[in-house]
Amino acid sequence: MFSQINSAGLFGLNAFMVTVQASISPGQPTFDIVGMPDIAVQESKARIRAVLGHLQLKLLNGRVTVNLAPASVRKIGSMFDLPIITALMKLGGLITADLTDSVFIGELSLDGGLAPVNGALSMVLTAAQNGIKRVFLPKANAKEASVADGIEIYGAEHITQIIEFLRHGTGLSPEEKYIPKRRAAEHIADFADVMGQSAAKSAIEVAAAGSHNLLMLGPPGSGKSMLAKRIPSILPEITFAESIETTQIYSVAGEIDPAEPLVTERPFRAVSHTASAVGLVGGGSIPRPGEISLAHNGVLFLDELPEFDRRVLEALRQPLENGDIVISRASGSVSYPCDVMLVAAMNPCPCGNFGSPTKKCTCSQQKVTAYLNRISQPVLDRIDIQIEVKPVEYSDLSRRIPQESSAAIAERVQKAVEIQKKRFAGTSIKSNSGITSDIIGEVCRLTPDAEEMLKAAFDRLGLSARAYDRILKVARTCADLAGSEEIQKPHIAQAISFRSLDRKYWSR
Ligand SMILES: Nc1ncnc2c1ncn2[C@@H]1O[C@H](COP(=O)(O)OP(=O)(O)O)[C@@H](O)[C@H]1O
Ligand SMILES: [Mg+2]
Ligand SMILES: [Zn+2]
Repeated sequence: MFSQINSAGLFGLNAFMVTVQASISPGQPTFDIVGMPDIAVQESKARIRAVLGHLQLKLLNGRVTVNLAPASVRKIGSMFDLPIITALMKLGGLITADLTDSVFIGELSLDGGLAPVNGALSMVLTAAQNGIKRVFLPKANAKEASVADGIEIYGAEHITQIIEFLRHGTGLSPEEKYIPKRRAAEHIADFADVMGQSAAKSAIEVAAAGSHNLLMLGPPGSGKSMLAKRIPSILPEITFAESIETTQIYSVAGEIDPAEPLVTERPFRAVSHTASAVGLVGGGSIPRPGEISLAHNGVLFLDELPEFDRRVLEALRQPLENGDIVISRASGSVSYPCDVMLVAAMNPCPCGNFGSPTKKCTCSQQKVTAYLNRISQPVLDRIDIQIEVKPVEYSDLSRRIPQESSAAIAERVQKAVEIQKKRFAGTSIKSNSGITSDIIGEVCRLTPDAEEMLKAAFDRLGLSARAYDRILKVARTCADLAGSEEIQKPHIAQAISFRSLDRKYWSR
């Protein structure tokens, strides 16, 4: 006797279809699960025995074998409890419904309650792609799963609800499609609160418009953290596709809010300098996405950059360059996307006053150098926009003139993003920061006097070829913000001004 139930498994972010096969033959009662199950799957046996006992169902009266196919792929997690018990009920004749177009995912508690699993959205999307029409899963995962198109979601709190539904067609109804609420704008800190600082604000606007990495260097109290916290208020709107991508990462990491499961704002992840490399970029014996992946399609904010462990910062290099992070394990390698805008802030030296025209730095030259050198050149090389934030002028603070609101800045950012969308349609490039060297000449056309200015700066400042490309990409964003097809002189001038830190602080 034989039965078969569809389910799905998860490896990293990637879900795959699993067929749960059960067979029973006469003999001493045994219960085996094969097909590369990990420990959580093996423990499923104990949970299933307990639930069957609780429901007084005698379904294990023979030699029972459960196979999770494909047998060559490792099965990790507790999501197979529900499909296995369903396969046993089918085997025992308790359920006779045709379940070929259905998928079952869920963990059982000992009394038959269904507990949520991580990664439900990825699994349901994969099921839908494979032509599955219905998913049965824990109620706590139902809202998250309902954003998938073309598939009905049945969320249940208890296994008995699923039994009743499959036997009599009653007790459960498809989850209503969840329509996410956008966060009310008034809850986000606004740039209107920041007095003066027009240079810093426009650098941030350019960074947000082109998704350029940004470093702010300045003395304590100059408002670096204050400025960074306001970046979410001007970021371009997240697209639905991006929203699903980012939600999948949160789902796999177990960071979904069941009440508002879809990530509908670009994430802003402020990471403490005590973070480990694994915490920041991901990893662990059971691989988990790190902060940089939780910031996917949004901002990763590293405040007090030199306070981070140097090895932790170095671990960022590859992921920042590639836009994803690959974690290799004996069982295979998983990859998590991490397309982020990096925002970093730092003081110029341990006391904070190095480079200040008014305050005296009390640090030795060695100390200043050592402090700055905690940020390695390869990391700096990945930051297109580097600016000095000076303390706000007293006159700016005292006058209390109304400052431009985040909404007004956001409108310009969004326009510049629309221009980029058209420019990069049909390519894998998402924003100006991702312009590759093969197309840079084509998409970054300069007026003759802009060309001349760039050449002069190149000779005068001794820029590297890498710096040259970065200036062009940033200038492209400045031109987009101005609605200009060609890159003009002021755009080049602004882009060059974002490179001044190199020479003032890191010229060795
Ligand atoms: N331009 C400004 N406008 C209004 N308040 C400011 C400004 N700059 C600094 N402040 C005030 O100073 C505080 C300290 O700024 P903060 O962002 O923590 O500085 P930093 O991170 O550079 O050390 C802010 O919380 C804010 O109250
Ligand atoms: Mg600060
Ligand atoms: Zn100092």
